Amino acid sequence: MSKIQKIRGFQDIYGEEAKKYRYVVDTFRKVFEFYNFKEIILPYVEDISLFKRSVGEATDIVQKEMYVFTDKGGREVALRPEGTASCVRAYIEEKMYAEGGYHKLFYEGAMFRYERPQAGRYRQFHQIGAEIFGVSSVLADAELISMVDNVLKKLKINYKLEINSLGDFQSRKSYTEHLVNYLKKYENQLCETCQKRIELNPLRVLDCKVPTCKEITKEAPKITEFLSEESQKRFLQLKEYLKALNVDFIENPRLVRGLDYYTDTVFEFITEEIGAQGTVAAGGRYDNLVEQLGGPPTPALGFAAGIERLMLLVKDLPKEKPLITVIPITPDYNIQSIQLSNKLRNINLKSETMLKEGSLKSMLKTADKLKSDFVVFVSDKYELKDMASGQQEIFYTQEDLIEALKDKI
Ligand code: HAM
Repeated sequence: MSKIQKIRGFQDIYGEEAKKYRYVVDTFRKVFEFYNFKEIILPYVEDISLFKRSVGEATDIVQKEMYVFTDKGGREVALRPEGTASCVRAYIEEKMYAEGGYHKLFYEGAMFRYERPQAGRYRQFHQIGAEIFGVSSVLADAELISMVDNVLKKLKINYKLEINSLGDFQSRKSYTEHLVNYLKKYENQLCETCQKRIELNPLRVLDCKVPTCKEITKEAPKITEFLSEESQKRFLQLKEYLKALNVDFIENPRLVRGLDYYTDTVFEFITEEIGAQGTVAAGGRYDNLVEQLGGPPTPALGFAAGIERLMLLVKDLPKEKPLITVIPITPDYNIQSIQLSNKLRNINLKSETMLKEGSLKSMLKTADKLKSDFVVFVSDKYELKDMASGQQEIFYTQEDLIEALKDKI
């Protein structure tokens, strides 16, 4: 029979990799809790127009990368390529704004983009991200960035943080006009994609990796020269707050991001250790998006991290609890063994009952394969074996055995 394989760009995550996945996610979740973010669990499928109207019609994501299909009811839907749009939709649809105050939400899960797969880039990948709704203060930008910085430090990852300001709507409009005029002068030298971008999405030309495009945009006007007074003030304040929080950053006036909804602050956490796909977390402000999607004017900001990219960088996983494998020496001791395993689990010790019957020797071999730290042979007595040292001890009651195990662990 021919075997069925997974689809290109999709992955099975198991074993050590699954542990890394959980470690990355748990580290974020713990920090989110201390910053008072609340979880939101969002749908994987949304009306396609949600992404067209938020991420942007002219972006690569909407133009080329979305998994789109018509469901049995004839609805045009998309597998979510990112989480912000859904989060904003939920904020509006669930009328969170009516509760007053402001909202800090986080989410986690699979996202889908039909990109060319390579190291650190998949068609199904996982993000963990957070969004803040209803806050215009730059304090929020600084706290959000510093929170991500904190998590990456906890994960012991080497990275640099780049920040930029895209200004408000007005600043960006006047900048875009100047940029287009500049780019038109070099139109024939730009790569084919960038030639199209001049009309469609000129800011993205700044982000192009093709050497000639890079060379041309080196001398292009910089967005920071076009910021309104208010946007300039905000950017200065952000830098001041980040310094106060001991967050190191680099200003990159070419940082524009690949989604259309950003205003003012944008940022990326980048590593040089995993090749071209080095952005491990990114985000920014999007003060117009809630209104653009039919909600009341609501300033907002957020970020998302790529879990698989962080997994490539995590080296040390936290130590696991030692494993105690309970082996009935004959099936006559099965009941005694499952009861002992349960007792151990109930006092928070990790226990495995030997589920594969066989000779003592083969069961011991299996226990070794399971990476047991201790083995208990159950008969009329309990023989405890320390797998590392080979040392053995005999106990006549479960209570004595458990006391001895507690001392060792
Ligand atoms: P993004 O930059 O498109 O932003 O994605 C955020 C992160 O997701 C990237 O920095 C990267 O680590 C990871 N990522 C993106 N595409 C892939 C892929 N194909 N394979 C593996 N990892 C990938 C957003 O999605 C925004 N929603 C972030 C945001 C939240 N802005 C404001 N709030």
